[in-house]
Amino acid sequence: MRIDPWSSAQFQDYARLRDEFGIEPFEPLVAKLPHPARIFRRGVVFGHRGFQRVLDAIEHNEHFSVMTGFVPSGPMHIGHKMVIDQVNYFTSLGADAYIGVADIEALGARHISTNRADEIALEHYITNYIALGLDAKKCQIYFQSKRKPVMDLAYVSAHETNWNEMRAIYGFEDSTNMCKVFSPIVQVADILHPQLERYGGPKPVVVPVGVDQDPHIRLTRGIAFAQRYYNVMVAKDGRPGVFVKADHSIEELLNEAENVARGMGFKKLKKIPAYKALYLDDAKPDDLPKLDEKLIPIEVKYGGYGFIPPASTYHRFMTGLTGEKMSSSKPETAIYLTDTPKDAEKKVRSSKTGGAVSVEEQRKTGGKPEACSVYELFVYHFIDSDEELAEIYNKCTGGKMLCGECKQFAASLVGKFLEDFAHKREEAKKRIDEFVRYD
Ligand code: TRP
Ligand code: SF4
Repeated sequence: MRIDPWSSAQFQDYARLRDEFGIEPFEPLVAKLPHPARIFRRGVVFGHRGFQRVLDAIEHNEHFSVMTGFVPSGPMHIGHKMVIDQVNYFTSLGADAYIGVADIEALGARHISTNRADEIALEHYITNYIALGLDAKKCQIYFQSKRKPVMDLAYVSAHETNWNEMRAIYGFEDSTNMCKVFSPIVQVADILHPQLERYGGPKPVVVPVGVDQDPHIRLTRGIAFAQRYYNVMVAKDGRPGVFVKADHSIEELLNEAENVARGMGFKKLKKIPAYKALYLDDAKPDDLPKLDEKLIPIEVKYGGYGFIPPASTYHRFMTGLTGEKMSSSKPETAIYLTDTPKDAEKKVRSSKTGGAVSVEEQRKTGGKPEACSVYELFVYHFIDSDEELAEIYNKCTGGKMLCGECKQFAASLVGKFLEDFAHKREEAKKRIDEFVRYD
């Protein structure tokens, strides 16, 4: 099985997907988040890679960033809001935020010129994003094609992968245009660039995305590791050690690592410059991640990047109002952020529910909120109180509430949200310059 980030396939079985690709379940971490936002509490964010490192940063008040991006094409629907909900949550905890307009990907994968993509971004996406509550003090929005450090990092990152790997991950064909082939590498650079010195240097970064983006995350974590000067690990012969991968300053790097290891209390050290190795015979595997991070500043001092592997969170996609996938190109499936309240209310009233075939039947057996696109609206976006949500759930399954009444309630919430959002958009349009950076 292969995940294609450019297809519009709907994922069904998230648990299977998680197991197949080695994505970690998010659920055990929820209780460790301070005031978890509703999409965390409710299992909408179902998986992650490397998020423990971000949790550690949150716990120790250490600086971290949240990074995401979007391809400006087609109208935005409320499903797209989930990423911004997460950005806002992490900035509320102190993170700074980077949002990349993927205008190179727009060209490669959607044949939209970078200029046109930037226009679409400014007119629609950026306005919506700001209206969704981004914090101007913490958040910068930039364009892939215009941010030189990103493009530079993309070129050198390209050195750490090859055609064979790219084809295996993405299924590229002989006829695939090279801009599309290169666009995942630009995304790698998007994700890694907050760790460049000019953006504050190495730090934990979390990337909230849909699971369709996981191939890019895997590629990024691989390339981040490949660019490290140090590799701290248990060697094949079972001996833990620090191994230098850089092709310069090898003795210095080993000496510096030796100092750090001594400082951590390791005594049985054996340095073998010819193997570019410092063996740590009294270290335990659990000690290694800590040592690894202590080596990062040294790596930077000698001209390396010292990237901390970026973390990701994966959220479920919303079911469309018709029961199929919520899709920008099918108006009846989606609530667009720019729908009029009236249009949206109409869509909600004619949406697919988990109701029974008849009123009598539903009074007897109750409805199925798990299979209901209206209930999903409550869960993902429109009801913040867990008690209130539980009440709706119980009334539904107990046959105490019928779908007509329930839809009416959902429609009014959606209508109110959109009415309010239209005002927020007008305000947001005046504030674009506070967020957008052209370099
Ligand atoms: N590929 C992403 C999408 O299709 C957009 C994107 C570009 C992105 N750069 C990114 C997402 C960096 C997360 C992080 O939506
Ligand atoms: Fe869905 Fe509400 Fe009907 Fe239950 S009562 S199936 S939650 S619309």
